[in-house]
Amino acid sequence: MIQKDFIPKEYTGQLEEADFGWQSPSNIALIKYWGKKEIQIPANPSISFTLDNCHTKTWVQVSAKSQTENEFSFEILLDGAAKPDFAPKIETFFKRVQPYLPFVNAYHFKIRTTNSFPHSSGIASSASGMSALALCFMSMENTLIPDMDQEFFFKKASFLSRLGSGSACRSIEGPLMVFGQHQDISQSSNLYGVKYTGELHDNFKKYQDTVLLVDVGEKKVSSSVGHDLVNGHPFASARFEQAHKNLSELLVILKNGDLEAFVKVVESEALVLHAIMMSSQPYYLLLRPNTLRIIEKIWEYRANSSSNLCFTLDAGANVHLLYPEAEKESVLQFIKNELVVYCKNEQYICDQIGFGAKKL
Ligand code: PMV
Repeated sequence: MIQKDFIPKEYTGQLEEADFGWQSPSNIALIKYWGKKEIQIPANPSISFTLDNCHTKTWVQVSAKSQTENEFSFEILLDGAAKPDFAPKIETFFKRVQPYLPFVNAYHFKIRTTNSFPHSSGIASSASGMSALALCFMSMENTLIPDMDQEFFFKKASFLSRLGSGSACRSIEGPLMVFGQHQDISQSSNLYGVKYTGELHDNFKKYQDTVLLVDVGEKKVSSSVGHDLVNGHPFASARFEQAHKNLSELLVILKNGDLEAFVKVVESEALVLHAIMMSSQPYYLLLRPNTLRIIEKIWEYRANSSSNLCFTLDAGANVHLLYPEAEKESVLQFIKNELVVYCKNEQYICDQIGFGAKKL
């Protein structure tokens, strides 16, 4: 599908006042999306595990305005309290989605949102938050186009989520989502995320993700600044080529269940993401001393056992520990014995792969 396919032709339904609610999960990339063209057109393809426990719930109460004005009219509450500092991001989102949802300036929106993870955990709420809001918009559009096809509903929800935050387009479904065109995935697109529909080896079913919270403050360099610094980066083209190759390799691994090979691809992707940041101009560093201590401990643990525990990183200092369900007990024991000391206030979040957004 191309961009103009998401512009609605005609609204046949009626809507004066209504409430829509969606719960949408966070996701963690195995092959990283880093570098983009406007607006969130990825420089390389990525694939992620959809998470389960880390999610955002968003309710949107809409009421028709007496007059259609050019301005958008909305209020936003996080955990019941007004959040005026979220307004600029939401305003930008409204602007970007308007060509595809021409009704957005004809209504007032009361947006209430809550995250299952602590707000200051360093876990990005943009993927779960933007996708939850996009899904509420789609439920609204579905009321105006009652015979909308379900597949189109989710595709457009992912397309709109992408306009909010690139990685958000991978939060709609699960357990794995692909964003960005790749030669081995025929349905893949730079405009929206698609569900990985290939065979998934039993080793990956119920895969665990325990997020160790290392640094819970605001990031020093935002993802959007980081993406921009990839433009003109001296290693950019080699990196994009590598992402394509790593994704091809990972597709084979997902089928054959080779956990050793999985560890190699996933950890390399995490380190390359940060290597690109460290070699950007201006250069910067989001890893913290405790991030590195945890990584060393994981390598030591693997060297002394037959474990397939591995790590991945987001654009921050927190460490995601990925491991098969069969290792749950032993890894949790290892975390308690050896890793919690490196976590801020000994905090960590246990999650696992999930199956996407749910209507509330
Ligand atoms: O969605 P954004 O613009 O926050 O970019 C996310 C980029 C990474 O989280 C670092 C990698 C990814 O693919 O999710």
